[in-house]
Amino acid sequence: MTRTLPPPTQHLLDEARDVRTRAYAPYSNFQVGAALRTQEGHVFVGCNVENVAYPEGTCAEAGAIAAMAAAGARRIAEVAVIADSPSPVPPCGGCRQKLAEFADPETPVTLATVSGETLHTTVGDLLPGAFGAAHMDKA
Ligand code: THU
Repeated sequence: MTRTLPPPTQHLLDEARDVRTRAYAPYSNFQVGAALRTQEGHVFVGCNVENVAYPEGTCAEAGAIAAMAAAGARRIAEVAVIADSPSPVPPCGGCRQKLAEFADPETPVTLATVSGETLHTTVGDLLPGAFGAAHMDKA
C-alpha cells in the first residue's frame, strides 16, 4: 500500500532508494539501500557491498552507519531501508544490533519495497531486549 509519508521520512526513503541503485550485489542480486538521519539533521546513506568471499560482504545499514561515524556523528534520529523484496525488507540481526548502538529504542525505522509498500517500526521493536552497555561492567 502506498501512502503519504511525512516529508522528512519521504526524503530519507528517497535517499535510500537512490543509493540502492549503486549497491554492489552481483552474488545475491539483491540490492539494498539504507539512509539515516542524525540528531543534528545530517543524512548518511549506504548500500550493500558484496564480495566473492561471501561472508566479507557488508549490509546497506552497516555502510550508512560507517559513513555517519566517519563524519563524526554518533546518534541516529531516523532510519529508512529499501529493497526489491515482496514485503518491506527487515534488517538482518547484525544490523539490528548495529542500529541499536547508535539509536534509541524509540527511533523510527521505515522498511520499504521498491514497489511502494512501507512498514513503520522502531529500533526497539526490531531488537527487543538488546544487549547493551548496561550489561557490562563499563555501564
Ligand atoms: N542485506 C542488506 O544490505 N541489508 C539488510 O537489511 C538485509 C540484507 C544484504 C546483504 C546481502 O548483500 C544481500 O542483502 C542478501 O542477503
